[in-house]
Amino acid sequence: MKPLQLFDPASSTYTYILFDADTRDALLIDPVDDQLSRDLAALREHGLKLAWTVETHAHADHITSAGLLAEHTGAKTAAPAGCGIGSASVQLKDGDTLHFGAQVLTARHTPGHTAGSMSFVWTAEGAKHVFTGDTLLINGCGRTDFQSGSAEALYHSLTQVLFALGDDTTVWPGHDYQGRTHSTIGHEKSTNARVACKSLAEFVAIMDGLNLPQPKRIAEAVPANLLSGLTAGLRHDMDGLLLSQARPAQGYAGDVAAPLAWQWVQAGEAVLVDVRTDAEREWVGFVPGATALAWKQWPGMTLNAQFDEAVRQAAAGGLKLVLLCRSGVRSIAAAKRATELGLEAYNILEGFEGDPDGDAHRGRKGGWRFHGLPWRQN
Ligand code: FE2
Repeated sequence: MKPLQLFDPASSTYTYILFDADTRDALLIDPVDDQLSRDLAALREHGLKLAWTVETHAHADHITSAGLLAEHTGAKTAAPAGCGIGSASVQLKDGDTLHFGAQVLTARHTPGHTAGSMSFVWTAEGAKHVFTGDTLLINGCGRTDFQSGSAEALYHSLTQVLFALGDDTTVWPGHDYQGRTHSTIGHEKSTNARVACKSLAEFVAIMDGLNLPQPKRIAEAVPANLLSGLTAGLRHDMDGLLLSQARPAQGYAGDVAAPLAWQWVQAGEAVLVDVRTDAEREWVGFVPGATALAWKQWPGMTLNAQFDEAVRQAAAGGLKLVLLCRSGVRSIAAAKRATELGLEAYNILEGFEGDPDGDAHRGRKGGWRFHGLPWRQN
């Protein structure tokens, strides 16, 4: 049994549908938004019930339709835990498995193209298949020069993880730009121009010398993909443009949508500063890794006398500041103060909880949690 291989010509992306021939339960790898109706038609045509959509990583060249597929079919969404796709219902770690009918897909962490990238192994009727995303391509590999990429990590993933799978394993890549559909581990091990018979130093030199242009859609695609492609949840006045750039503001650097702020933080460009009180963080929830620096503090909500010094420290090294409060009011005041101190400070629109709805409940109309971004409660 082989996977169904579908192709998106605009991004040269391969999407795969795997299924159990008896139960008709299916799993879909790396769906593309423009191909939603094609994929739904393929599922119907083959009489399949979609159990899972899975991403190999947060793509920079196209937007996923995982969120829409889940809405249309009832499928669950899964994504590598290290990719920041907070909207996926299952966060995969190395060795985790997804089941569809009697079939099993195993996640293997293969960092390098991005830090969270994964490959997926499927053994069907005794034949082994690996879906390599942008980690291993036919006679190539994914780039390592942005999105937390690392040539060293990719070399390890290729030579120690994927090449250890067995020579007759069929390789199904995330892209091909020359019409090739699949390969084998044995073939790539002996002929892949980037990595076959190359030392780590030779591989790193090749990767460092590629000088590739930025993918055309990166600014738009990555933030959208961190939401499984579901950007309709953004408040109506928060148009698609805000997913890719900040909106200029009076008195501070600008307003940013929460998904874009999170992308900046993950890329190491910005530091997330939570300006709510300690009590709010404790009762309502907090963002792991964010700097806790109250603008005002209980009791009495007096201005925090330590704010200036602490916010300077937070921005040390010239990082942008993205400021988060409950609904985006205190964060504006704090961003203005940080700007007076000479820092590049942005307000995160809608805050952690968003505005209250008609029933005075927060968290249903917008905000950090509403967008499915990472948060925790003690
Ligand atoms: Fe990629």
